[in-house]
Amino acid sequence: MRFSTVNENKIIFACKYRHKSVAINRKKDMSTTILAIESSCDDTSAAVIRDGVLLSNTIASQKVHERYGGVVPELASRSHQQNIIPVVDDALKQANVSVDEIDAVGYTRGPGLLGSLLVGASFAKAFALAKDCKLVEVNHLHGHVLANFIVTPETVGREQAKFPFLCLLVSGGHTQIIIVRDYTSMEIIGTTIDDAAGEAFDKCAKILGLPYPGGPHIDRHAKIGNPNAFQFNKPQIPNLDYSFSGLKTSILYFLQKQVQENQNFIAENIDDICASAQSTIISILLKKLILASKQTGIKDVVIGGGVAANSGLRDAITETGKRLGWRTFLPELRYTTDNAAMIGLAAYHKYLAGEFSTQNVAPRARYSLQEYFAK
Ligand code: KG4
Ligand code: ZN
Repeated sequence: MRFSTVNENKIIFACKYRHKSVAINRKKDMSTTILAIESSCDDTSAAVIRDGVLLSNTIASQKVHERYGGVVPELASRSHQQNIIPVVDDALKQANVSVDEIDAVGYTRGPGLLGSLLVGASFAKAFALAKDCKLVEVNHLHGHVLANFIVTPETVGREQAKFPFLCLLVSGGHTQIIIVRDYTSMEIIGTTIDDAAGEAFDKCAKILGLPYPGGPHIDRHAKIGNPNAFQFNKPQIPNLDYSFSGLKTSILYFLQKQVQENQNFIAENIDDICASAQSTIISILLKKLILASKQTGIKDVVIGGGVAANSGLRDAITETGKRLGWRTFLPELRYTTDNAAMIGLAAYHKYLAGEFSTQNVAPRARYSLQEYFAK
């Protein structure tokens, strides 16, 4: 693990995986080496994957947005432009792989911020042109699902979920229940009708005066709070769909009332408020996941996306799984939030399936998994 401050934008380089002594098969005809690029939001990331095994995963996180309480798209694009070449260079060096060994470059086509996506897509296309290698477009959500399958040379052969399995995908922009039939075949059976689970965390945190992104801060406070201290409204939504916008309103009204009586209410009760809000979000998520498992009969269950880093959700999924006889699988923490390793794995499986992209494929701010897999 290496951290270094790169420039005045306070971009932190974190080599999430470093392995120098890996025995690399240098015969190109016998192995497939993918360079992956992720730039959909505020993390610039590059990874190298050989034959489905992760060799390196470098991430430059943009700290510049913190002071604005959310991602500023224009600043994100500029930072991606500054970061992309050093990040790719770092990923190749960490993997001990040269540009000439790359068989394909995989990149996030969408969904995400258009300006951010453009930087990654343009780099990927230029690289593919220059090195005359294949180009593979990846849907960001496809990556989040496959994050569960990321293995390094040390973890190859680890037990994994068997197809078909259920994936609860919970990120800053999406909340979906997905039947994963194969590496490149998935069906969404439930989705949010308004806010995503990550948004619920972030909006609650904002009300409480916590920094952006709020999810990890709520998680930290919740660990020492009482989840039953306060009751918040849970939505009554039919089928396997979700709604989180009411929770934010419920918390807002509750706090406004309490603060009128005691100005220090939030400061004095922050741990209990966070624990209660988090436990409400988790119980909403689990209720529909349990229903999905009952309806489909599928008992292999995984989670993915930034909110899959939440310690309460991870514990709750594991506990529920034990109670209901599921086999549950949790992605490694470092692969829950945005990273190129997951994009590389998705690109690898698309490469094996012969699904290549062309130079005239444009990035897409909105890009549903249905559309992506319907092609
Ligand atoms: O997957 P991700 O990195 O980006 C998107 O694709 O949206 O997810 C970001 C989201 C944010 O809403 C962030 O607050 C949330 O993941 N998040 C968490 C935790 N870590 C990140 N939410 C709850 N608990 C966490 N520990
Ligand atoms: Zn994401």
